[in-house]
Amino acid sequence: AKPFRIAPSILSANFAKLGQEITDVITSGADIVHFDVMDNHYVPNLTIGPLVCEAIRPVTDAIIDVHLMVKPVDRIIPDFAKAGANIITFHPEASDHIDRSLSLIRDNGCKSGLVFNPATPLSYLDYVMDKIDMVLLMSVNPGFGGQKFIPGTLDKLREARARIDAYTEKTGREIWLEIDGGVNPSNIAEIARAGADTFVAGSAVFGAGKDTDPNRYDTVIGAL
Ligand code: DX5
Ligand code: ZN
Repeated sequence: AKPFRIAPSILSANFAKLGQEITDVITSGADIVHFDVMDNHYVPNLTIGPLVCEAIRPVTDAIIDVHLMVKPVDRIIPDFAKAGANIITFHPEASDHIDRSLSLIRDNGCKSGLVFNPATPLSYLDYVMDKIDMVLLMSVNPGFGGQKFIPGTLDKLREARARIDAYTEKTGREIWLEIDGGVNPSNIAEIARAGADTFVAGSAVFGAGKDTDPNRYDTVIGAL
């Protein structure tokens, strides 16, 4: 496995030509498609659902990483699994039964993960490490692309890295540590040093797109 993975968030892509945008970022070296699902209830914005996931599935072999910002979470999980999601993550505050929701994701054949808002404690991990394949730390408050990275997230990343390393040492099982919000070429090195191995970037990647140049994402993805 690669030591670091880049996951462009299609939230900032041009939705009028989403398939082409995905092909172009993957061709430019990105590893994962980060898919932000917002419901105008858990977060104040409304985005895309299983139909769009199903539509993009044939476009790429890359991992589709579905970040659920919806409440409740359980009833949408099987739909995303059927639509071709590979990883499904959710916010612990949005599920009444966290252990059950994590099982539901795995029972539907996907990798599972929990997402931590800037003020959400990592103690939610205490009893569920065995059921988690990825930990996702938000470095902005969820709901919108293009926000500024919250610096306190670096300490939290170090804490999450220590928890994961201790777990891997004990069990031999790897857990990915993903960071989401305000990541760009000038702060990514520091974020990597704090322990992240998987980097979501929305506006930094898709903001670099000049509509016609087929190699428009090479420079920024190369810089990440
Ligand atoms: C925010 C989303 C992020 C967002 C990141 O709620 O979860 O994935 O798209 O966008 P940037 O990289 O622009 O902060
Ligand atoms: Zn996200």
